[in-house]
Amino acid sequence: MSGGIAAYKVCELLRRLTESGHDVTVVPTASALEFVGAATWAALSGRPVSSEVWTDVHAVPHVRIGQDADLVIVAPATADLMARAAHGLADDLLTNTLLTAGCPVVFAPAMHTEMWEHPATVANVATLRERGAVVIEPAEGRLTGKDTGKGRLPEASEIFDIAMDVLSRGVARPDLAGRRVVVSAGGTREYLDPVRFLGNRSSGLQGYALARVAAARGAEVTLIAANVSLPDPAGVKVVAVETTAELHDAVVAAASSADAVVMAAAPADFRPTSVSEDKIKKATDGTSPVIELEQNPDILHQIAHHRVREGAVIVGFAAETGDADGSVLDLARAKLTRKGCDLLVVNDVSGGAVFGSPDNEAVILGADGISVDVPRGTKAALAQVIWDEVARRFDRDVTA
Ligand code: CTP
Repeated sequence: MSGGIAAYKVCELLRRLTESGHDVTVVPTASALEFVGAATWAALSGRPVSSEVWTDVHAVPHVRIGQDADLVIVAPATADLMARAAHGLADDLLTNTLLTAGCPVVFAPAMHTEMWEHPATVANVATLRERGAVVIEPAEGRLTGKDTGKGRLPEASEIFDIAMDVLSRGVARPDLAGRRVVVSAGGTREYLDPVRFLGNRSSGLQGYALARVAAARGAEVTLIAANVSLPDPAGVKVVAVETTAELHDAVVAAASSADAVVMAAAPADFRPTSVSEDKIKKATDGTSPVIELEQNPDILHQIAHHRVREGAVIVGFAAETGDADGSVLDLARAKLTRKGCDLLVVNDVSGGAVFGSPDNEAVILGADGISVDVPRGTKAALAQVIWDEVARRFDRDVTA
């Protein structure tokens, strides 16, 4: 822990870690102890707490804690701590621990927006990420004073989930570190007038799970969210859109520098030819209005067929029911070819929709002929398998 007011929120994180069976050694900086005292950390962790290297010297704590750890979480990580870590300084027990840790390291920053956006911090965060550390993007909201903005420590539950994912993978460098990925989520709305729209039931849960998992695996994630009412995942840049045209522009802009794009959103294929400026009134003669529609751009088709970034992996989704022309998988294979993407995640929706459900099951088809069955499980579990397939294609790209 470094010295930020958010230190008090880390009590909750520590409790989650210990209650789930982990042995936690708290290593605060001297300034962290100005916010929450050593007695609290010792009581909650059940272990002695020190911030400098001169306590218990015979046990060589300045190297032992880092060497023995399976995971280091720095929360809150201040601008100063990340600067010291990026430059390899080792002037207290925490920075010594960071220099001797061979395990994955997760930084959960908390600071004022100006500090987070300062070029010095931006460069330090980039250095830490390049070395394989997971630096979670801070949350937005109320800061210490009356000000609000980006810089809040993410919720303890978010840091915990990311830490558990990193820990379960057990590798010092997360496999998506250094990768930029774009995920679209939710369903677009096409307005008829200022209050009415054509829309669909996509909840955004699968796209949000994909974004969360990618961030936990070290990727820099842009999540383009169409009308989703879920909390922003930590570590993720969220761009809100409403219509398919807005989704198109946001995806095309982000895709130009992305290593992978996953189109989990359900864009409306059609939009009203004209949008009434005023609320449409009922006709006095009782006739019903006729809505004329025109086609929206097919975003997946466009980014897959006109690739601006060599080697990028493009993933589509398809919710299918079989019909007279073929089975679910026949139709999906045809869609994969038509859309031109590298992977297509196919949901068989014959037995009912997956919208809003926390679970999903799918078959992942590859343009290279692969077919991976993912049995019913959480949307996060499906997200892990999708990123496994994407990461395999990145590796192929590197070795090719
Ligand atoms: N998609 C897109 N742009 C659209 C419509 C769909 O990028 N205008 C993407 C979706 O995000 C999804 C994939 O295409 O990843 C497949 O969506 P689907 O609705 O099954 O495709 P359609 O081309 O609309 O196929 P169908 O004719 O079967 O409805």
